[in-house]
Amino acid sequence: MPTLDVREEILRLKKERRAVILAHSYQRPEIQDIADFVGDSLALARAAQKTECDVIAFCGVRFMAETALILNPSKTVVLPDGDAACSLEASCPADELAAFLDAHRDENYYVIAYVNCSVGVKALADVIVTSGNARNIVAQAPADRPVLFVPDRNLGAWTARLTGRGMTLWQGACHVHEAFEAAKIAELRERYPDAPVVVHPECRENVRLLADCVCSTEKMIGYCRESGAERFIIVTESGILHRLRRLVPGREFIGVPAESCSCGECRYMKLNTLEKLRDALLTLSPRIELPEELRKRAERPLLRMLELSR
Ligand code: 13P
Ligand code: SF4
Repeated sequence: MPTLDVREEILRLKKERRAVILAHSYQRPEIQDIADFVGDSLALARAAQKTECDVIAFCGVRFMAETALILNPSKTVVLPDGDAACSLEASCPADELAAFLDAHRDENYYVIAYVNCSVGVKALADVIVTSGNARNIVAQAPADRPVLFVPDRNLGAWTARLTGRGMTLWQGACHVHEAFEAAKIAELRERYPDAPVVVHPECRENVRLLADCVCSTEKMIGYCRESGAERFIIVTESGILHRLRRLVPGREFIGVPAESCSCGECRYMKLNTLEKLRDALLTLSPRIELPEELRKRAERPLLRMLELSR
């Protein structure tokens, strides 16, 4: 357990650096508790756009910190652990996407990229989506062009089903969400018959089909708050449980037990610690840097997303 001193140092450095601390809902509880703002990818992108500060300490994974820099080129953006990557991002390398688009130039694909992708992939996209706005943005895709959805085949399939929009899906996936098994969720449902099952759209279809609600991490909070149920089975990365318990008190949140599968914990999200956050504020590193030309190309589809999801 980190000492009070580390927290005090973070708060002091935050003031000295004129920094803001943004944290994704999958971060360790102690990081969520010290952050100025906790949210899903969409909420964090919006917060990054609005923030007034010199430094953004981004507690999440690299593509999220890059998104903050793309939207705030004049600010210093630090990521407490520079190795905080994302397996979903890795499943769609920018050069492979570029080669695919080149080979299919005649199709003239409208490329929709889930925000969990590299800056190189964003630069090739027409528009970005998050799990919170994918449905709305896919529904607005031009009717006269075929759509290519990258990198997550599960979010893509779920969105295609909701909107009725046919899309070619890049075959990428997240190692955490792909590992949830339908049999295990069905078992939990049997054990807690009164508990609605709440599932992140990055899960496989056979898991999504067992859900009472499929939604982004942020929407999970609203769903649980508004539901009359006393307890819920939550099928996503375990960090959200802390946030749910804090924001929706008096209810029980049941995660998928870690021993039943290799799922439930994103090893990249959990690389950030309070000590690394303190060090990042102290040394202003690891710092996210992007070539300006690439940043500009990636900014365009991100701004389009923010515009369309208003
Ligand atoms: P959200 O878009 O719900 O924040 O999820 C991001 C993520 O990394 C899910 O694995
Ligand atoms: Fe990436 Fe999956 Fe971790 Fe989300 S949970 S950051 S998609 S590896």
